[in-house]
Amino acid sequence: MTDLATLETDLTAQIAAAADEAALEAVRVAALGKKGSLSALLATLGQMAPEERKTAGAAINQVKDRVTEALGQRREVLKSAALDARLAAETVDVTLPVRESPTETGRIHPISQVMDELTAIFADMGFAIAEGPDIETDDYNFTKLNFPEGHPAREMHDTFFFNPKPNGERMLLRTHTSPVQVRTMLSNKPPIRVICPGRTYRCDSDQTHTPMFHQVEGLVIDKGSHIGHLKWILEEFCKAFFEVDSVKMRFRPSFFPFTEPSMEVDIQCNRQGGEVRFGEGEDWLEILGCGMVHPNVIRNCGLDPDIYQGFAWGMGIDRIAMLKYGINDLRQFFEADVRWLSHYGFRPLDLPSLAGGLSS
Ligand code: DAH
Repeated sequence: MTDLATLETDLTAQIAAAADEAALEAVRVAALGKKGSLSALLATLGQMAPEERKTAGAAINQVKDRVTEALGQRREVLKSAALDARLAAETVDVTLPVRESPTETGRIHPISQVMDELTAIFADMGFAIAEGPDIETDDYNFTKLNFPEGHPAREMHDTFFFNPKPNGERMLLRTHTSPVQVRTMLSNKPPIRVICPGRTYRCDSDQTHTPMFHQVEGLVIDKGSHIGHLKWILEEFCKAFFEVDSVKMRFRPSFFPFTEPSMEVDIQCNRQGGEVRFGEGEDWLEILGCGMVHPNVIRNCGLDPDIYQGFAWGMGIDRIAMLKYGINDLRQFFEADVRWLSHYGFRPLDLPSLAGGLSS
């Protein structure tokens, strides 16, 4: 056999033996690549006499064509074998249990749910949502709200302060949502009707206090807003939020620097059987603070207290969430225990609305 015939037999055998497309490609490169065996033979043509070159050239090119053809056929065979193997490996067992989608398994945290409920109720009464930063100035958190420098009420808030800036100003983590009242009055013209839900911070921790907690503030400023409006709004809110037909409320005199007069509000409830029920019973439960916005605050926020007046209230969101959903330790809210959340959480697509029901 000539060298050429040996080479062809050899290559044909290698092509037939290639087990996959990568092996086949290696054979192709070894034969037809730049440094391949057949390419090397073709390169010898240049040194041959013209007659010899004619016959040898034709012979080598025929072998090259047959090898190329064999490579092509083998490639097709290997391709379809690879596809068959992949289809066999990727079969789906339709009898396996289906994994539930995140919309089925995910849960909305009760605090987020309650915030959505508050928003639905107050939006229905024509309130907008206002927000402010968690890191506040001393001026907005205290001074503009009529807490004079050195006033003992500042101490009651167990404030987290940041290190003072070079100019002596101390930023702080807001101790209540009331600074959003200041921001709203400074940047809006009355009539103002907003609620301000958000995070608040105080250095305190036990069964009913956590260093971070949530409040919702309400603010109404207009020319003729009075306590009657305040009482109606709070009563309508409590009925809607606790999903009862009537609530009895008690307004007790209290003190806040930013309101005058100031009141604390209790709602009547029944605590028998370890559970709190509203709209019945002989017990009282404090749920919020409120009052007519102090003229000093209105003035500090650039409005004329002889023209404008209004009222405000502040409520602990965590506390009303605990009351409504029977959660007895505040700290559980922030433990991020997925078992707790799957029990107390809400389904993501059950959005609270007054028409569709708040919590069902
Ligand atoms: N800021 C008060 C607090 O954190 C709550 C409060 C009371 C807010 C009366 C008000 C209000 O707007 O009128 O304890």
